[in-house]
Amino acid sequence: MTARIIDGRRIAADILREVARDVEELKRDGILPGLAAVLVGDDPASQTYVTNKERACREVGIYTEVHRIGASVSQDGLIDLIHSLNMAARVHGILVQLPLPPHIREQDIIECVRPDKDADGFHPLNIGHLAIGDSQFVPATPSGVMEMLAREGIELGGKHAVIIGRSNIVGKPIATAWMQGNPNTCPRVTICHRNDPRLDEMTRQADVIVVAAGIPGLIRADMVKPGAVVIDVGINHVPDKENPRGYRIVGDVDFTAVREVAGAITPVPGGVGPMTVAMLLRNTVSAARAQAAQA
Ligand code: GUN
Repeated sequence: MTARIIDGRRIAADILREVARDVEELKRDGILPGLAAVLVGDDPASQTYVTNKERACREVGIYTEVHRIGASVSQDGLIDLIHSLNMAARVHGILVQLPLPPHIREQDIIECVRPDKDADGFHPLNIGHLAIGDSQFVPATPSGVMEMLAREGIELGGKHAVIIGRSNIVGKPIATAWMQGNPNTCPRVTICHRNDPRLDEMTRQADVIVVAAGIPGLIRADMVKPGAVVIDVGINHVPDKENPRGYRIVGDVDFTAVREVAGAITPVPGGVGPMTVAMLLRNTVSAARAQAAQA
């Protein structure tokens, strides 16, 4: 069997068209949705992600401002900036690109973001809302994965999803959302550490594999049940002399081998990545709408 390729770029483009319509509607009501992005340091991957988010905002008509700050910024300096964005009426959503430099405590920064401007959905209050089934903002990558599966018509009720990677950004929130969701439409969930010694035994039981481990080639063909759906959240830069940039981007799945076994699979690039951007923008529009309703 050769797997169906799930085209994240196409699905994300559909969502961005919907977001653009919502932005138009808000503008007619005198509200210009705004997103502030904070990028600390010069990590090339983070720079690319923030540039992609900025470009997508422009495309859908969302006001955007990017605060690019040197890696030597103090924690207090960064907190001052977040406080000013919390107060800024033009800004409805705030995203602080992670990771932050080691001298800054990431969790302290996340907790400074006003929960109703937390477009990333990383604040403990929003994580708590998600955990009790009353979500305000679902983190963008997990909601991108769920939206992509829904729009591809992939039924999850009664299925078994195995999630590899227990990060606060991907693994935990997607497991939380599915645990909390309607059992007719959400799978049962197993969550594994990427170094789980019985990982292959776990993945072979999966109807759906979601891998967010940051390890190129972690998921091999022999780890996948024939016909399973494989969602690759990994974005890894691997050296490549043939490529003018000196590297290429690969996921956590051995795509060439696994596509011969799986029923459906996301490519990297062009799978989950564009979905994350689209869902962040959708969260920003929701934030703008909610803040306007409160005003
Ligand atoms: N770093 C990796 N993924 C993300 C994300 O979704 N949001 C932010 N803010 N940082 C990230």
